[in-house]
Formats: sequence, C-alpha cells, structure tokens
Amino acid sequence: MDERIISTEEKEEDIFEKNIRPENLDEYVGQEKIKENLRVFIKAAIMRNEPLDHVLLYGPPGLGKTTLAHIIANELGSTLRTASGPSIEKSGDLAAILSNLEPGDVLFIDEIHRMPAYIEEILYPAMEDFEIDLVIGGEGKSKSIKINLPPFTLVGATTRAGDLSSPLRDRFGIVAKLEYYSFEELKNIVIRSGNVFDIKVDDDAAMELAKRSRRTPRVANRLFRRVRDFALVEGNGKIDLDITLKALKRLNVDKSGLDGIDREYLTSLIEKFNGGPVGVETIATSIGEEVTTIEDVVEPYLLQEGFIKRTRSGRIATEKAYRSLGIDYNFGLFREDDEDNDN
Ligand SMILES: Nc1ncnc2c1ncn2[C@@H]1O[C@H](COP(=O)(O)OP(=O)(O)OP(=O)(O)O)[C@@H](O)[C@H]1O
Ligand SMILES: [Mg+2]
Repeated sequence: MDERIISTEEKEEDIFEKNIRPENLDEYVGQEKIKENLRVFIKAAIMRNEPLDHVLLYGPPGLGKTTLAHIIANELGSTLRTASGPSIEKSGDLAAILSNLEPGDVLFIDEIHRMPAYIEEILYPAMEDFEIDLVIGGEGKSKSIKINLPPFTLVGATTRAGDLSSPLRDRFGIVAKLEYYSFEELKNIVIRSGNVFDIKVDDDAAMELAKRSRRTPRVANRLFRRVRDFALVEGNGKIDLDITLKALKRLNVDKSGLDGIDREYLTSLIEKFNGGPVGVETIATSIGEEVTTIEDVVEPYLLQEGFIKRTRSGRIATEKAYRSLGIDYNFGLFREDDEDNDN
C-alpha cells in the first residue's frame, strides 16, 4: 500500500516536471548572463559544425542545472545522454557510456563531484582529445588500448564546484554559476506554470508565491502545485491572493520563505550557541543534519539573504535572523560580530 502511494506521488511529480520544464533558452527565465553567453557559444559551435565546448554548471539545488543541460542539447539539436556521478562506480561504467556516444551527443553527468578520482582521470583524455585509454586483462598480461570517441560535449552539474579536482575543472571551457532568482523572475516562473496548466494566476498571488520560494524555481513550482490544489478544491479554480494566502498558511510556509531546516539552523545558532560564532560541524550535529546538506543547501541561501555571516571563528546570526524568529536581538550580549568578519 505504502509503496503504491509513494510511487503515485513520484509520478505526479514526474509528470509535472515533464510538462513544466522549459525546453529552450527563451523559455528559461532569468540567469541572463549565462543565457546570453550560451547563445553565442551554441551558435558558433553550430556555424563551425563543431561540438560545443564542455560546460560546467554549478550552484545550489533547484536553480535549474538539469533543466539547462536539457536546453543545451535541444538548442544544439543534439541528443542528451544522462549519467550521474554516484552511479558510475567502475572505470568500465564510464568507458561504456563514452564509447556508446554518437557524434555531437551531449553527455550530462549530474553530481559530477561524486565521481571517484580514478574514474575522473578517464575523462581527461576523453574531454581533451576525444579518446580513452582502456587497460584490459590483468596480472602481467594487461595492455592498454586507445579508443577514439566521436566528438561530444560534456555537461557537468554540481552543487559543489569546490569539490571538483582542478584538472577536471580546468577542462571545462564554459563554467557557469547559477544564481538565486529575483522575486520578479520567480513570479514569471509561477505565471508560466499557470499558463502551462491552463490556470489563471493573479499577479499579486504570483508575487506572494515568489517571495516565499527561497529564491528557487523548484520551490516556486512546488508551492504553485499545492496552491493549485487549494484553488480547485476550496477556491474558485483560479489562483488569487486570497486562496494563496490561505494555502500558504495551511502549508506552514514562512513569510520570509525560510523552510524547516533553515529555521532549525537559525534557532539552534541563536538559542543553543547564543548567535555564534560557531563551527558548521557543531550546528550540523545539533540539528542532526549532514554537514554537506548544511553547506550546499541551507547556508548559501541564508548567506545570500543576510541571515548569517561567515567569519573565521564560525557562523554568526545577524539581526535579521533574530527578527525572523521573533527573538530580541539584544538578548545575546557581547557579540563580536564584525571584528573578524572575513567576507
Ligand atoms: N530558469 C528557469 N525557468 C523556469 N523554470 C525553471 C528554471 N530553472 C528551473 N526551473 C524549474 O525548477 C525545477 C528545478 O530545476 P532543476 O531540476 O533543473 O534544478 P537543478 O539545479 O538541477 O537541481 P538539483 O541540484 O537538485 O539537481 C524544474 O521544475 C524546472 O522546470
Ligand atoms: Mg538536477
């Protein structure tokens, strides 16, 4: 029973994803600089009849890396092949993927930072010279053979560019860092989703959803989906401000767009550690989360929005963080805030 419920859930999300995902650069909202550059590079590649240079996309989850990888392949008129770092366990796995590529294919490797180093090395000659060196046989009888690959484009995506080895990073000719979205952009994404699903979204309702979306398209679309349910069942079928506010309240979504872990993080930082400075490992342990989740998902948003600061001696909560939790800022005394701020 449970399993069925889970798989239907996944299906709903999958179907939604397929319908909602922009398919070309014009439909992709925001990230203007990246789009402008990609347009030029893609056009040049097509004019020269050469593969597009390898592309590395990095940034926090849900900002549109996978979507952009699909778009790059579409705009090139190429086929996208997908793989993910953790699923490539043996060098043979990667060799098989590479040797099955067709000329001009785009190979998308998601979570590319999670590929083991010895497998990564296979990529170097593949990216640079379109060839791989395969070692076959073992125990003294092994020999190395060279396999030529068709020209292809590698698109790598990662939430942690810092975890890529520099030889790998250096082999990407195009490196793009995805930024958090403005409210206006998220509003457009919500309105676009409304158009795709043929449901009218009022401007003020779309803006309200935008503001509560953690500056992240995935969150905006998730909220849109839920509000659409409320509009259907308890409203008049369209998404207006009234039903939106009602839905957001029922969904327990914070005014500032903070989600559950964000709030736990800030509460811990303020209440258990007096606002910091405190190390990230300590906070992670105190709220039972992985350090990587804290560093890749939670902190980038809190830093960008000015809820926390990173200092040499650890993280500190800003006045904005206290306010967002309704705690008096003067409650913690003798803060050393700005003295050792290294940002
Ligand atoms: N620029 C955009 N315009 C419109 N919709 C977008 C945009 N970026 C992302 N989306 C939508 O947001 C959702 C999440 O995007 P996507 O899966 O590409 O994120 P991601 O960066 O790959 O996340 P992760 O790091 O978790 O893999 C998708 O539903 C996608 O359609
Ligand atoms: Mg992705």
